[in-house]
Amino acid sequence: MEIIAKQANADKHKAAIVALAVRDGKFTAQGSAVDKAAGGHLSAVVKLGDLDAKAGSTVLLHKVPGVAAERVLLVSVGTSEKDFRDAARAAVKAAGSAGGELALALTDAAPKGRDAAWAAEEIAVAAFDASYKYETTKSKKDEKPGLKKVTVLVGKDEEKAAAAAIAAGSALGEAVNFGKDLGNLPPNFCTPSHLAAQAKDIAKKFGMKVEVLERADIEKLGMGSFVSVAKGSTEPMKLIVLKHEGGAKDEKPVVLVGKGITFDSGGISLKPGEGMDEMKYDMMGAGSVIATMHGVGRAKLPLNVIAVVPTCENMPAGNASKPGDVVTTMSGQTVEILNTDAEGRLILCDALTYVERFDPAAVVDVATLTGACVIALGHIATGLYSNKDALAKELLAAGETAGDRAWHMPLWDEYQESLKSNFADMANIGGRPGGSVTAACFLSRYTKKYDWAHLDIAGTAWRSGAAKGATGRPVPMLTQFLRARAAAVAGAKSAAKAAKPAKVEAKSAAKVAAKAAKPAAKKKA
Ligand code: BES
Ligand code: MN
Ligand code: ZN
Repeated sequence: MEIIAKQANADKHKAAIVALAVRDGKFTAQGSAVDKAAGGHLSAVVKLGDLDAKAGSTVLLHKVPGVAAERVLLVSVGTSEKDFRDAARAAVKAAGSAGGELALALTDAAPKGRDAAWAAEEIAVAAFDASYKYETTKSKKDEKPGLKKVTVLVGKDEEKAAAAAIAAGSALGEAVNFGKDLGNLPPNFCTPSHLAAQAKDIAKKFGMKVEVLERADIEKLGMGSFVSVAKGSTEPMKLIVLKHEGGAKDEKPVVLVGKGITFDSGGISLKPGEGMDEMKYDMMGAGSVIATMHGVGRAKLPLNVIAVVPTCENMPAGNASKPGDVVTTMSGQTVEILNTDAEGRLILCDALTYVERFDPAAVVDVATLTGACVIALGHIATGLYSNKDALAKELLAAGETAGDRAWHMPLWDEYQESLKSNFADMANIGGRPGGSVTAACFLSRYTKKYDWAHLDIAGTAWRSGAAKGATGRPVPMLTQFLRARAAAVAGAKSAAKAAKPAKVEAKSAAKVAAKAAKPAAKKKA
């Protein structure tokens, strides 16, 4: 799909559909011009009341006199950022069945404090999101024409900034869809080997370094916990390390760690059969981390980022781990496996020890870790835990900006007690109360040497029911987090260059830059 920015009058632009914004029963300037060209036909339609005021509601009109496009789509844009995203997505969805080119005259309808470039980026992200189709394992492909081209109509002098914003939005949109594809791919296709092959492809495409460790290497590292999960499966386990060196040589990397259980049967602590197919999504920590790297590579982000993915299946077998087994982790700490279904933390703890070697600026792990997190936060917010408040704040802010939100959960010492074991340094479960918290507490015992955050995406990474499928979350949050970090580093550098480069100044500049977050999201003057 081609997405471009163009300075043109919405009434004269030839397309299959032109979309116009309606807010409080009124058009913005871009839409008013079209209404005028149509002799007031459009405002008369709005007066009839067919268009619901709820953001994302649409009405499609054909052959409107005085308008060059074949159809006019009226879209309620609401007032908030979420409203605008809903509206953009709805416009793309509505246009999908018509096919051809969709032109959107929505940039002057951006919510308060946001400009045309912001709107252009959101439209690009929405265009990818709303046009996503899963087809890999279907014998018949969808034959509908589909959207060929999206043109974001902008005002005078806005074209250049909008084009840059569209490039950033497309990199993100493409990454989100890449992540959805990984998640939706059936578990007999999406194996640890498949994830490793995908990482290698990304490395080749974007000039990154990649290393894939095999079982023998992993055993040699002393990852007794990770191996204990993988050993009941006939699929070979992998530890994937993917490096994007976009920053300065001496700059510490941000490390993303993703849980890559390509199928979670529960192991000997077998899960009930109903809905077990959904445990193919148990690799979406890995999927979202690998997808984020895709976007980072596409956007050539000026930052050092490393993705580390421990990946294997969790299966029952004669040689699988048993409840009561005690294993030794790479850190030297021992773990009593009381439930083989609490396997995510068992593979993550070793990966989290492994990443110490990178002397990370920060480590963020992403995992479909607990059903308890779904109970706590539903499918709306990702659970966020951190041993560093400033890092938690960065991630919360990134989630807000990207419309992919997290909620800060506690990591208090009192919760640690439930992990006591009589036969090892700790147990791998803490009982039902606060299950998402105690899982995070378990991980915190392996992350003492660096700034760390943990995202429990069990509720947000996919949907069940009729719209069953991967959501691509938290790729938008992670991407925004990394973009803000890159902007902060750039800000600190230019501050250091200026006149007297006092260390304090550089630091506060970094803070300011971090606040400016999305480069394309500057406030209106
Ligand atoms: N992959 C699951 C967590 C999960 C459950 C994700 C439901 C999405 C939806 C994880 O490995 C798991 O099984 N966790 C157990 C932990 C328990 C045994 C302490 C859980 O949540 O029940
Ligand atoms: Mn499990
Ligand atoms: Zn799991």
